[in-house]
Amino acid sequence: MDVIRIALLGYGTVGKGVHQTIQLQQERLQTLLGKRVELAGVLVKNINKHHIEDSSVLLTDNCEELFSLGNIHVVIDAIVGREPGFSYLKRAIQNGTHIITANKELFAHHGRELKSLADEKGVSIGYEATVGAGIPIIQTLSKLLQVNKVKRIQGILNGTSNFILSSMREKGLSFQEALKEAQEKGYAESDPGNDIEGRDAYFKALVLSDLAYGKKPEEEHTLLKGITDITIEQINYFSSLNLRFKHVAEIVKAPGKISCAVRPVLVSPEHPLYQVEYEQNAIAVETTIAGRITLQGLGAGMYPTASAVIEDLVQLENQHSQPVWREDVHLEAEEIEQSLWIL
Ligand code: HSE
Repeated sequence: MDVIRIALLGYGTVGKGVHQTIQLQQERLQTLLGKRVELAGVLVKNINKHHIEDSSVLLTDNCEELFSLGNIHVVIDAIVGREPGFSYLKRAIQNGTHIITANKELFAHHGRELKSLADEKGVSIGYEATVGAGIPIIQTLSKLLQVNKVKRIQGILNGTSNFILSSMREKGLSFQEALKEAQEKGYAESDPGNDIEGRDAYFKALVLSDLAYGKKPEEEHTLLKGITDITIEQINYFSSLNLRFKHVAEIVKAPGKISCAVRPVLVSPEHPLYQVEYEQNAIAVETTIAGRITLQGLGAGMYPTASAVIEDLVQLENQHSQPVWREDVHLEAEEIEQSLWIL
């Protein structure tokens, strides 16, 4: 049986989640792709901090060693920050390798460059995991909404901030206690500054803006504020008025400009974002024909993020190969037909 060989950049929460999901879903992946998915190598910053049971997987802190692995079909990027990820992904594309990234900061700033390089080289890029983890917002905006135009996007795009606000309101935890729990659960970034100061949600808003409008909001039309100033007294006071603080990213297209506001706002019970709690994310997209479409789900964490990466892998492979599973489905349909005949 053919094999899809993968190289993984990073072995933190997301990297481990991807590895485990490949192992757990191997049978399903084989059915879908007609090929076994094999993790060939993992690149980490500090090799002494990591261990991989399976000795057939190369664990290395040397990028040359990783890039010299033969027959790598897809490079999966599960590291943070613009560099060295950008250099690695450019190199992978130059080598004719498909890429999948969960790195929102990198993709927010270099997505276009990577896309045009990938087009030039005839390879694919998957970036579903950059926004909303397991919520298929990238697929929805890029493939499912072709005729509709997007008027406005409003979203809770950071699981950590939402987790903190929910924990403060519902459990009476202090900001620091709630943040600590979000870190322990693997929602927060290793440096949670990007989460609580709004930059993580802003990077995701940039990715969505580029996708929905073909460009990013101008800096002079951008407002960025995190949740660090919100006190438990404010939360309780507004809660008594039936209002909830939510950290909301809003991208709006107006004539001649795209504006973006990422900030805490008060939300009333009528709004779809009101009941989005803890690590959940939700994205409400106002469209010209279909009206408002809201997608909601787990926006942070090991498996929801790994889910987006693995779904990208299947999409990408099915674009580039003749999927064997179609035959299986056909057989299954025949079987069903036969049993209907018997009945
Ligand atoms: N730290 C991010 C969050 C992870 O809390 O939303 C998912 O992108």
